[in-house]
Amino acid sequence: MNLESLTPIRLNQDYELKSFDCGDTDLNNFLFNDAKAYLKELMAITYVIEYENKVIAYFCLLNDKVVFDTLDTQKKSFWNRFNRRNQIPNSKRRKNYPATKIGRLAVSKEYKGQGIGYFIIDNIQSLILNRMDIACRFITVDAYQTAFNFYVKNGFEFLSTEDENESIRLMYFDLKNIAFPNHIPNS
Ligand SMILES: CC(C)(COP(=O)(O)OP(=O)(O)OC[C@H]1O[C@@H](n2cnc3c(N)ncnc32)[C@H](O)[C@@H]1OP(=O)(O)O)[C@@H](O)C(=O)NCCC(=O)NCCS
Repeated sequence: MNLESLTPIRLNQDYELKSFDCGDTDLNNFLFNDAKAYLKELMAITYVIEYENKVIAYFCLLNDKVVFDTLDTQKKSFWNRFNRRNQIPNSKRRKNYPATKIGRLAVSKEYKGQGIGYFIIDNIQSLILNRMDIACRFITVDAYQTAFNFYVKNGFEFLSTEDENESIRLMYFDLKNIAFPNHIPNS
């Protein structure tokens, strides 16, 4: 498959959903039962990717923020580390930063392992950076345990250690790393 021929289609109320199975019932159900309702309520925008007249993947996006107050028991030192790691200048340090959340992301069982996940993350990054009429610093995702490594391979990091025993963990990606490639995170 030539990934460059794929284009995410923004879902609208008239879009006729085609069959899709990523192997996860909740993620399948979101596409068929919830995506249009979220769109109508301005709560999330869903994009589908078609190939040979089938939906082979989808993702949805919504506004979010990375917040200081509820993340860690060692809150202050945690937040200082986060600011240092992402090289936020002292004068610009805040208790929250603008973000876009990946609400859902799924690839059809048939098409896993072919680079479509990489393609989607690249597309999300471009979509946000090209839409710079509204500032967004981070991408966030409540990642499933089974997908932790997928996100790590795409440059995401865990936000906190507080959820390290959970099956769903908050991960983030700093868009400044690609908007300004010389911006290297501190270790
Ligand atoms: C996770 C998912 C989106 C990955 O999509 P994909 O198209 O198969 O991913 P890619 O082919 O682009 O793979 C990208 C890299 O991540 C790795 N990877 C993909 N899925 C992985 C997984 N579940 N666990 C660990 N690594 C994974 C691949 O091996 C590849 O690494 P490599 O370059 O070293 O080979 C897909 O497997 C999926 O839809 N899973 C079910 C739903 C889900 O878990 N969604 C995430 C909800 S937060």
